[in-house]
Amino acid sequence: MKAVVLEETRQIAVREVQDAQMRETTDVLLRLTSTAICGTDLHFYEGRMRGIEGGIIGHEPLGIVDEVGTAVRNVKKGDRVTVPTHICCGFCAMCADGHTSACLTTNPGAAGAAYGYPNKGGYAGAQAQLLRVPLADANCLKLPGEPGDQWEDDFVLLADAFTTGYHATAIIDILPGDTVAVFGAGSVGLLAAYSARLRGAARVYVVDAIAERLEKAGELGAIPINFIEGDPVEQIRRAQAKWRSGPAFRQEAPLGGVTCAIDAIGFQARSKTDFSKEDPFWVMEAIAELINPAGRVAIIGVWPPKDPHAVEPASREGRLTVPWSKLFNKNASIIMGRDDDRRWNSKLRDMIITGAAKPSKVVTHRLPLDDAPSAFEKFDARQDGYIKVILKPD
Ligand SMILES: NC(=O)c1ccc[n+]([C@@H]2O[C@H](COP(=O)([O-])OP(=O)(O)OC[C@H]3O[C@@H](n4cnc5c(N)ncnc54)[C@H](O)[C@@H]3O)[C@@H](O)[C@H]2O)c1
Ligand SMILES: [Zn+2]
Ligand SMILES: [Zn+2]
Repeated sequence: MKAVVLEETRQIAVREVQDAQMRETTDVLLRLTSTAICGTDLHFYEGRMRGIEGGIIGHEPLGIVDEVGTAVRNVKKGDRVTVPTHICCGFCAMCADGHTSACLTTNPGAAGAAYGYPNKGGYAGAQAQLLRVPLADANCLKLPGEPGDQWEDDFVLLADAFTTGYHATAIIDILPGDTVAVFGAGSVGLLAAYSARLRGAARVYVVDAIAERLEKAGELGAIPINFIEGDPVEQIRRAQAKWRSGPAFRQEAPLGGVTCAIDAIGFQARSKTDFSKEDPFWVMEAIAELINPAGRVAIIGVWPPKDPHAVEPASREGRLTVPWSKLFNKNASIIMGRDDDRRWNSKLRDMIITGAAKPSKVVTHRLPLDDAPSAFEKFDARQDGYIKVILKPD
């Protein structure tokens, strides 16, 4: 089969490799029709999270079941399915409580497994023609329609991007009337903003510095804030003051900030004054400054255990200085971590089918698998309007 292999840092190759194989009677093999590139793949591509070099990359599959293990009950050959990035078993203590990204059995000795991901069980990645899906009954999400239909680009986002964006809004319980600031307008941040709107948020701001991404945020019903053009906290406070000056019925005008904030950037956040440099600190400072008392904060951008290339020495060991007192004195709630994708994917699938959600609005490029090397290069440079790339394995 053909597969996208991360040979070394910044070296992507499309190669003929051995076909994915069935290993257990609970497996299925998927023949993929779409497979996406995630911002997380860029952390591996840039050599900032290492461990999959020489292996297949990717964790956002959509396809047709090609082969079915004898113990699989709920899936048959020919079914159209997607599977969550985080491989789950469905029966361990974490899965049973819905925390499927911390599954205790699929990556023995640790919590959480994933395709094409360092230290997550060693499962082959999903940017390939075929994918082995373990524990198929727990992982396969059945989908209507057929390859290439009007839902193809929506369904592929159920593996990770849409579920992660939604997860951010669900863990901090975004409700009608909330005001939300999302930092980072990659597909994950954009879909978090979109999900906040779906959940009834009154105003959603999206902070980034890339013109096409901010424009996309506007198309999704959010208010774009370019952080290079001025302090984003000030910009959002000004916008809030304008809107609040009329209907401040409960003396809420002095609050001035937002009720919820989402970090959809992670450890490679760029500097506020120089986009070519990294500065992991200021986003959390800005969030602490911006949230109102009792503000709720979701951190879904990735923070790896170690980062030898971090610009700050403490960050190399996974430490970050945060304005703890400010957060404490605001009674802030902070929830962070990986997406419990399996928990949300069937609900979001149904919203796609009924037309209540169209996450594919963030998809900008559909390319043959063979184009993966240049797709990675351009997506990494965030050039030519690359926001979300879907690769086509056939
Ligand atoms: N928690 C999870 O389960 C999960 C799942 C998927 C992705 N992720 C992580 O979410 C993050 C976003 O993923 P993506 O696919 O959208 O990536 P992306 O790289 O396409 O988007 C990141 C965006 O953040 C912007 N940005 C950088 N510094 C910024 C700053 N200081 N302020 C505001 N914006 C800034 C960039 O310009 C870019 O548009 C990544 O860290 C990824 O690893 C986490
Ligand atoms: Zn991802
Ligand atoms: Zn489990």
